[in-house]
Amino acid sequence: ESFDLVVRNAQIATASEQYRADIGIVGGKITQIGAQLGAGTHEIDASGRVVTPGGVDAHCHLDQPMEPPAKMADNFDSGTRSAACGGTTTVIPFAAQQKGQSLLAAVEDYHQRAAGMAHVDYAFHLIVSDPTPEVLNKELPALIAQGYTSFKIYMTYEDMKLDDIEILNVLAVARAHKALTMIHAENADCIEWLTRRLEAAGHTAPRFHAHSRPMLVEREATHRAISLAELVDTPILIVHVSGREAVEQIRWARAHGLNILAETCPQYLFLTADDLGLDDQYEGARCICSPPPRDRANQEVIWHALSDGLFAVFSSDHAPFTYEGSDGKHPDGSQASFRYIPNGIPGIETRMALLFSEGVLGGRITLEKFVELIATNPAKAYGLHPRKGSISIGADADLVIWEEGEFTITNQNLHHAVDYTPYEGMHLRAWPAITLSRGRVIWDGQFHPAREHGQFLPCDAPSIFARIG
Ligand code: URP
Ligand code: ZN
Ligand code: ZN
Ligand code: ZN
Repeated sequence: ESFDLVVRNAQIATASEQYRADIGIVGGKITQIGAQLGAGTHEIDASGRVVTPGGVDAHCHLDQPMEPPAKMADNFDSGTRSAACGGTTTVIPFAAQQKGQSLLAAVEDYHQRAAGMAHVDYAFHLIVSDPTPEVLNKELPALIAQGYTSFKIYMTYEDMKLDDIEILNVLAVARAHKALTMIHAENADCIEWLTRRLEAAGHTAPRFHAHSRPMLVEREATHRAISLAELVDTPILIVHVSGREAVEQIRWARAHGLNILAETCPQYLFLTADDLGLDDQYEGARCICSPPPRDRANQEVIWHALSDGLFAVFSSDHAPFTYEGSDGKHPDGSQASFRYIPNGIPGIETRMALLFSEGVLGGRITLEKFVELIATNPAKAYGLHPRKGSISIGADADLVIWEEGEFTITNQNLHHAVDYTPYEGMHLRAWPAITLSRGRVIWDGQFHPAREHGQFLPCDAPSIFARIG
């Protein structure tokens, strides 16, 4: 037998084409693609089924240290289990620097959290919250050289935010060392001012989270991020873009020849501010994330920007906090003001099926665009392509075999450690039937644990550039 595994009669879909072939796998890598390949020790019949690359979730938060009482519900074990069952075979969570902490110490700590825990492969982004001269001149260049080629910076959140000088300093390091900076663009002072006014008026229910972060605070910060990147002349990627006004800023930048990449997430397609509830309802805390979900018209703008190439990347922004827990959406066991409710929603397992079902089968994006958004482009943007995000000879045998049918999202069937999904009860038309990580079946309707199998991936320089126009 010439192969460890042959996937027969796959309807292969890549970012550029669809065709039928067998996929031959040896040692966890794709070694041949063609008609009627020789026998494998194991065989999977994929007749009539779409086969895509495994997903690359380039924005998810797992076991990230938080300010008490908040604590993330998913560690690398439960987080990558959930990823695998939803077709994601590479995750890129964040090694977050605390203010006053060395960046190297943050990376070391994060490796300890991941080691021996991950069921799928993983790389790290860095979060730079304290860009001291030591960090800018020594730690960041050294880490980029070691394969940490992307970092996120924040324009909001008290414990994370950078001012414009600090942002320019970080962007200059990214330019000098060919790294990619991800920017969370919301205006912190506007949010604080609005939050105080809402609190003074007694408006503390979860729904007022959205009132404290209207679209204009995202629009302003998006424009400022673009300007700072233009000044330094370096690419950036704007994360979790929520609606029209931010999209307009990015289109403007592209039309002026600027290399601005953008990401959006399922919550901006499938949730609205109405999901934050009414004045006397606390359940809406489940859907608190930043930027907040907008409205139907903005969902439509995001769909169009996915199909026309404005967005390079579709990520989950999985940020796992339990609803009931005192370390989750009920801080210290209470119904708190929206200000104190941890931001973020779970979605690492539902990301791909939501977009396949509503996007591809719903006729809004092509299958090729789907593959580009969920696997190929994130792998390129973060220096993991073509090992990840492609079905090609020499690539890792990370594959998803899709099943079309009727599926209902219910939290009981998900594999994260969060006690809710914002998509409870939603009907989908597809779900991964089989997920392969380097040739190993980790999901086939049952989860097959593979702790110790998941490997850390050092990243090359980004290999993606925005299409201009
Ligand atoms: O609300 C969100 N998005 N929480 C996760 C952290 C972040 O800003 O991405
Ligand atoms: Zn963010
Ligand atoms: Zn439309
Ligand atoms: Zn995030």
